[in-house]
Amino acid sequence: MATAGTLLSHVYPIGARLNERGVLELGGCDALELAREFGTPAYVVVEDDLRTRAQAFVEAGRAAGHENLAVVYASKASACTALLRLFAQEGLWCDVASGGELHLALAAGFPAQRLLMHGNAKSREELRLALRHRLGLIVIDNLDEIQRLAGLLGGEEGDGAGGPAQGVLIRVTPDVRGDTHEKISTGQANSKFGFGMDQIGDAIQRVREIAGLELQGIHAHVGSQLLELEPFRRAAQQLAQLGVFPTWDLGGGLGVAYTAAQHPPAIEDYVGAVVGAAREYLGEHSRLLIEPGRSLTANAGVTLYTVESVKRNVSTWVAVDGGMSDNLRPMLYNAGYEAEIVDRFGGDTACVLAGKHCESGDVIVKDAHLDDPRPGDVVVTPATGAYGHAMANNYNGVPRPPVIFCSGGNARLVVRRESFDDLTFRDVI
Ligand code: LLP
Repeated sequence: MATAGTLLSHVYPIGARLNERGVLELGGCDALELAREFGTPAYVVVEDDLRTRAQAFVEAGRAAGHENLAVVYASKASACTALLRLFAQEGLWCDVASGGELHLALAAGFPAQRLLMHGNAKSREELRLALRHRLGLIVIDNLDEIQRLAGLLGGEEGDGAGGPAQGVLIRVTPDVRGDTHEKISTGQANSKFGFGMDQIGDAIQRVREIAGLELQGIHAHVGSQLLELEPFRRAAQQLAQLGVFPTWDLGGGLGVAYTAAQHPPAIEDYVGAVVGAAREYLGEHSRLLIEPGRSLTANAGVTLYTVESVKRNVSTWVAVDGGMSDNLRPMLYNAGYEAEIVDRFGGDTACVLAGKHCESGDVIVKDAHLDDPRPGDVVVTPATGAYGHAMANNYNGVPRPPVIFCSGGNARLVVRRESFDDLTFRDVI
């Protein structure tokens, strides 16, 4: 069994360790005490980890010698006011992919000029909102959207017209395939996102014809959870065919480690590679945008669960008080995670960490190794800080967990746990 002082792998938040009692410590807070104070399941996020990674992106841009790199946090990875406020303070931009994410980013204090709106099905209402705030950039995805923007800017509905031009990018599918799960691959020609390489010329021309829109450049996103840098390079190479633009946005996608065996590129190496490719193919002086989501938040966060039952048949089933309602990723992408009992790290009982939901597929970790798990044990799954809380749901009427920020030994609730009343709150009886 692992003992006090054992260093934890890079899958855990920066600074996470086993304290002198052999208990997992996150942001200086004892995980058992967190579970006692806030209940489980709970998302625990280490604030300093978020800041360190945000600063690493910005500093890597500087170190690579790029004068004009904007780090745009893709808020779909994890969005609550406290987290967005932190990234706003660190000087990042924010990518919103819906009116709701725009609402969250504005509530967190992001200035509109540092917001960029995405979406392949933006509604008139979402576009109207974006224009009213004159966001830094709107990324145009399709011809219908161009028409909708033209209508709004033409004063068709007395809104959006007048004022400074709205900066836009046009999204292209660069026809580059990265090695990732099919469901999170976007750069291939047959994608629901953006214009094909053969269609973008027409889109550029149409956008340029609309008074009130200022075409600043091109956007491409190859895919998500990419563990190699080559696809980013190939995307930049593809984009070079499109001409010269003041702004290029190379999307997000840098992968993270979910298990200790995974070794994704470091933030510095990723930024260095992207800046290098931009310099080589897209020109020295254009503004460069990148949109990291997962790589800013995934490893900063963990989930704490309590074991409810341990059953032995062909396998040993360790069932906890959460599951696919707080982490959909195993179910959706067959994603692998690690698990440990927070005060008995390093066990060797092979078991399946199962969720509480009414589906056989609700398994959080297929091949966990725990130290003699028993009901009441508190279990941690690391690397749940991205696309965990963001994709949480109420399946089986399970209230969504709280989000707790930890820093310097202090823990604070930043999103409260849903109550049963929240489940009936919106019902019209
Ligand atoms: N920019 C665009 C246009 C995107 O579509 C995405 C992710 C990002 C940036 C951020 O990508 P990241 O750096 O986080 O890889 N729910 C899935 C991930 C879906 C990603 C969708 N787009 C998951 O849990 O793996």
